[in-house]
Amino acid sequence: MKGPAKIAPSLLAADFGHLADDVARIEAHVDFLHVDVMDGHFVPNLSFGMPVIESLRKTTGLYFDCHLMVTNPVSLFEPIKQAGGNLVTCHMEVMPDPSAAAVRAREAGLDFGLVINPATPFEAVAPFVELCDLLLVMSVVPGFGGQGFIPEVLPKIEAAKKWVDSHGLPADIEVDGGITPATAVRARDAGANAFVAGTAIFRAPDPVAAVAELRTAVGGE
Ligand code: DX5
Ligand code: ZN
Repeated sequence: MKGPAKIAPSLLAADFGHLADDVARIEAHVDFLHVDVMDGHFVPNLSFGMPVIESLRKTTGLYFDCHLMVTNPVSLFEPIKQAGGNLVTCHMEVMPDPSAAAVRAREAGLDFGLVINPATPFEAVAPFVELCDLLLVMSVVPGFGGQGFIPEVLPKIEAAKKWVDSHGLPADIEVDGGITPATAVRARDAGANAFVAGTAIFRAPDPVAAVAELRTAVGGE
């Protein structure tokens, strides 16, 4: 899935009263829509579920990168596919068997990825990166938008990039949390090629200009 830098606005920071409008505004300028699903259990917050994803799917052709901050992600694969999702990422912290989950995701017709929290070492996910279309490295503790980037995750991104390159793997390396043009550059320098940004895009006075600024910062076209 690699290629030029990918920009993935996080829906969590959009205006929930005008989701379709907010997405339509940036649609032509971004690569993925990052869809944060939370269960109030794996993280202490709720976001939205299938009805919202399904409704949005009717309004946009964007690739839905569904970040599953839930205790039992595999149970959501079929519903997410039905609702129009494209990729599911599952937290290593709740994955007893990532290999089985990858098979289930592909059976459901979904792309698959794994996520690691700031406290989870790269070594925990390394043997499973070969199963992934995308590896997501959290640069905040998941649950809420608008938090500050945790620079201590940068060496982990470097380790991921080294692993992906040395094993010739296709996985994108995505970073999520506190991404601004300045922090995106640091993540890119460490090896990330996909950038999730909620606050920096949807809460900007001009979200389209904010996307352009991010893309310029990380060297995309
Ligand atoms: C945090 C979510 C993020 C969040 C990013 O739990 O996974 O995707 O929306 O928001 P910002 O860009 O505001 O840190
Ligand atoms: Zn996310």
